[in-house]
Amino acid sequence: MKRMLSGIKPTGQLHLGNYIGALRHFVDYQDEYEMYAFIANLHCITVPQDPVELQKNLRDCVALYLACGLDPAKATVFLQTDVPAHAQLGYIMCCHTYMGELNRMTQFKDKQAKGEKNLSGGLYTYPALMAADILLYDPDYVPVGDDQKQHVEITRDVAERMNHRYGELFKIPEPLVAKVGARIMSLSDPSKKMSKSDETNKGCIYLLDPLKTARKKVMGAVTDSYANVHFDPENQPGVSNLMQILSSLSNDRPIGEIEQEFQGKGYGEFKRAVADAVCARLEQIQARYDEIITSDMIATTLSDGARRASLLANAKLEKVQKAIGMEIIA
Ligand code: TYM
Repeated sequence: MKRMLSGIKPTGQLHLGNYIGALRHFVDYQDEYEMYAFIANLHCITVPQDPVELQKNLRDCVALYLACGLDPAKATVFLQTDVPAHAQLGYIMCCHTYMGELNRMTQFKDKQAKGEKNLSGGLYTYPALMAADILLYDPDYVPVGDDQKQHVEITRDVAERMNHRYGELFKIPEPLVAKVGARIMSLSDPSKKMSKSDETNKGCIYLLDPLKTARKKVMGAVTDSYANVHFDPENQPGVSNLMQILSSLSNDRPIGEIEQEFQGKGYGEFKRAVADAVCARLEQIQARYDEIITSDMIATTLSDGARRASLLANAKLEKVQKAIGMEIIA
């Protein structure tokens, strides 16, 4: 069975972009692949966090993984810090990653370009930790949204470098980026990615948004004056984004079919269909979330997940440390 690994960083509440670009694929793939899905809490603290809020977000993230359909009997679901090998290999990866490579990473460059002050060293070296997250498990594929592809590519580069230097240590992973829904845009500004750091709070639908709020956000989504439901991300980014959301939430229905269905109809009717699809999915997820958040499923999932993940991670860390010459007692 081929293996997959991915993670989400719960710096805030999970949103529809995380679900469409990543989480729903983890669920789809868990039958066919050996799936490792973790909560990237080390990555969270690369930007300042309120401890009480962070702890709530972490619990919610596990509950949402399960509520969206990850089954702990099939997938290994775990918290990054429950497997200390992530931080340990992260340091080793950092020592094998060039500053020139880190300087090219858009995530850090974007924050710097915006003039954000006091960016942390952790944020700068973040891709090295992400490389460790991945390489500890020798996955064949890493399902991610479009914005994380660059991080999987640097992972491949560093893995190849280390394999070349020390002998075969790591499998070279492939990023898996879906054709539709890999970059869901903000509803209020479709030139920007839907993200947790949405200042207006109108552009981002959170998985735990009340249905009324979610519907309002979809109905208020920025479109254009063409009055034509047509897929053209360059000239009609808002409408094209809504089409991708609708397609992703209706079993990857072909975009062409959606275009046909709404030909000659107004944006109001189209947006209502998108809002119905969004609300139906959120309702399902939230009902499961309500059951899980008060149960002991979170604790059992995480302890079992940490045990299973540690088996692979500790063996890989040991192999790497030996190959580098860091161990004294064999
Ligand atoms: P994060 O937490 O920013 O996002 C989690 C996943 O959601 C995807 N995503 C989106 N997809 C479509 N449209 C959007 N608007 C959107 N926003 C986010 C992301 O591409 C990602 O797949 N560094 C990672 C977490 C991580 C990780 C890893 C992932 C840490 N270690 C190892 C894979 C493997 C991150 O910050 O993702």
